[in-house]
Amino acid sequence: MVTWYSSPSARAWTAPSVDVSARAFHRSMPGYAVTPLVELPTSADELGVGRALVKDESLRMGLPAFKVLGASWACHQVLKRHPGAELVTATDGNHGRAVARMARHFGVAATVFVPEVMLDETAELIGAEGAEVVRLEVGYDHAVRAAAEYAAESDGRALVQDTAWEGYTEVPEWIVDGYQTLLEEVDEQLGGAPHLVVVPVGVGSLAEAVVQYHRRPGAPHPSVLSVEPDTAACVLTSLAAGEPVTVPTGSTVMAGLNCGTVSASAWPVQRAGCDSAVAVTDNETRQAVADLGALGVSSGPSGAATLAGVRAALANPARRTALDLPGDAVVVLLSTEGNHR
Ligand SMILES: Cc1ncc(COP(=O)(O)O)c(C=O)c1O
Repeated sequence: MVTWYSSPSARAWTAPSVDVSARAFHRSMPGYAVTPLVELPTSADELGVGRALVKDESLRMGLPAFKVLGASWACHQVLKRHPGAELVTATDGNHGRAVARMARHFGVAATVFVPEVMLDETAELIGAEGAEVVRLEVGYDHAVRAAAEYAAESDGRALVQDTAWEGYTEVPEWIVDGYQTLLEEVDEQLGGAPHLVVVPVGVGSLAEAVVQYHRRPGAPHPSVLSVEPDTAACVLTSLAAGEPVTVPTGSTVMAGLNCGTVSASAWPVQRAGCDSAVAVTDNETRQAVADLGALGVSSGPSGAATLAGVRAALANPARRTALDLPGDAVVVLLSTEGNHR
């Protein structure tokens, strides 16, 4: 099994300029606030870098994960085109809850398809937002297909999916645009770009936003490290193969990262501009959840995977050399969810 990928030249790639118009919309939403960027001096010492900071997404617009940044902007755009439409999606958890919350906010119905591995309590939280929850005896990739088929059955339904495939790219791109808000906030909080950004990866849409943002024209081009569960490393496997590869998935504590197929829109961006990728085990991530908790940061497994990933990268001399960080490097970990509901 491949557990590491490095392509230092990808740092030099320049992306087209990014659309940051979601930021003004987010500012207009109830509960919007810049989330904390927390300094972790003990982690900086452990990792042998100048500064380590964690972007704490444990409370974002009233929900315990960053996903609502993308869902809110995409739902807003979709409902402008299809006023009153029933919003449909499939989810590992956070995205579906965010779409359900937005449907309630905009006063429309939502139907959310969930895979068999989802915990009952997660499905109940989505239902508690007022959505119809449809549980399927299949994995995430198949749940996405089922949601797309259901949405296509009626003009009164609109799919709001956070992964792209051939013929379905516009909505996922709005979702990626929505994530830009988080990255702008980090640069504002730091007063500039970090040297290394560590991003947890499911289908790769958040990582697409990170690569687009940090490879935009005129940007300083920091290193981007993608982190996935070793049981669902579709982006790492695809990068190593040089083409999209679907991997079988099972269960992992990193529920939000449990995806077997890279988003079709994320893939070309990752391939061109992502310079490193690592896979981590459930045990490494459990340790990271506990360690961040002890440092006062509420970080669920899909968020704390970034600490596990940067450890797995920087503790290995060859990987460390490939990342080519300065001695006083500033490292930002995107902790994309809290360790609570
Ligand atoms: C908490 C959390 N972090 C990271 C991700 C990964 O995002 P993406 O699927 O865009 O790679 C997800 C996806 O659901 C998530 O819920």
